[in-house]
Amino acid sequence: MLVLANAAASAFHARPSVAPHVQRAVSPHCVASVPTAASYLAEVPMGPPDAILGIVQSFKDCPAENKVNLAIGAYRDDGGTPVVLPSVREAEKRLLTRDVNKEYAPITGDPEYVKKALSFAYGDDNEALTSGKIVGVQTLSGTGACRVAGEFYSRFLPKGTVVYVSDPTWGNHIPIMQLSGLEVRKYRYLNRATNGLDLEGYLADIAAAPKGSVFLIHACAHNPTGVDPTPDEWGRISAAVLENGHHVLMDCAYQGFASGDAEFDATAIRRFVADGHSMLLAQSFAKNFGLYGERVGTLSVVTASAEESARVLSQLKLIIRPMYSSPPIHGAHIVREVLSDDELRSQYYEECKGMADRILEMRALLKAKLEEAGSTHNWEHVTSQIGMFAFTGMTGEMCDELRDKYNIFLTRDGRVSIAGINSGNVDYIAEAIHSVTDGKEIGA
Ligand code: LMR
Repeated sequence: MLVLANAAASAFHARPSVAPHVQRAVSPHCVASVPTAASYLAEVPMGPPDAILGIVQSFKDCPAENKVNLAIGAYRDDGGTPVVLPSVREAEKRLLTRDVNKEYAPITGDPEYVKKALSFAYGDDNEALTSGKIVGVQTLSGTGACRVAGEFYSRFLPKGTVVYVSDPTWGNHIPIMQLSGLEVRKYRYLNRATNGLDLEGYLADIAAAPKGSVFLIHACAHNPTGVDPTPDEWGRISAAVLENGHHVLMDCAYQGFASGDAEFDATAIRRFVADGHSMLLAQSFAKNFGLYGERVGTLSVVTASAEESARVLSQLKLIIRPMYSSPPIHGAHIVREVLSDDELRSQYYEECKGMADRILEMRALLKAKLEEAGSTHNWEHVTSQIGMFAFTGMTGEMCDELRDKYNIFLTRDGRVSIAGINSGNVDYIAEAIHSVTDGKEIGA
């Protein structure tokens, strides 16, 4: 297992050991040593661009007409246009006809939204939920949920508790946990030779981790690999985590988007709750509802009793209030509206399935076009992986070549956002991928 350097913390350590404002405080009469108000800014180092959003910015800055954005996990239709789901538009229209004011939400968000969101994840008749053993707050999408979770762990788990993330994981997981003061290590996940799950490595790392560690687990549509455990493998992972006394933070960013069936995609969440885990759940409505910029999510905690839930909730409030006070309301109202109306809810399920189906079609088309272009690599994993991404096995250099020669932008780990592929650009993409991978090894 790999111990990661605390990149987030080391960025701060670039500061001089004694900050200018401290110098002024200790020697108030020494005018010459007092820096000008702006001088500390001269010492601020340039930070590196974000591994995902930095590439999206380069895409935006690129003037080429044939440019393709395969970097970001954001859905596009077959014309390459961002989609607002008709059920979401309908909910917005309904909200406009009501006299909804713009007062602050409570610290923990819109209570009715939270209730609906948790039922969506855990199931309407989940016993733990209906008996008050699951408590939740509205968060700034899944990222905000993970950040609040990290803060909660750092306050209430013993000092030195390690958070284990999959190798690889969504890049932002690591600094989110490190900024919460937690040590991050990796557990084996992807078998790079087969582009499938390294189950034995995963189980061995669960067994080897110090008791009481946190395992950050993707609930479905693993990002970036698109490799999910089978129901049987979930059972073995769940048992191993329990046996070794670890905690689980489940990150669910793609419920409904993976298989097209929101109920099926909640399999791991519901199974882990039924198995009796010490578990937190970060939930996002960015992808499955297409509410990216609205920042809608929840963080929930599975507790032992309603009384425990009340204490946990009081602490979540203490974390959130100084962090951002309370969450935004519009997106939460949309989700609440869709999930509260049976008709709109079924319409939504169909529309979500439509997005998942288009992704599946594009996976098959990309594989077929790669073969048509003459590629002799085995691209089976493009269709066997699930969710928004294909983890192609391309190297960073191949990704650079795609950008420099073909204006195709993707993250340097070889992750392709299938959402950026459509029937109009798939030939171009397949030919470009073939040209940069031809005669070279991939997936090693
Ligand atoms: C992604 O992985 O592309 C998305 O989750 C967007 C993001 O914030 O990184």
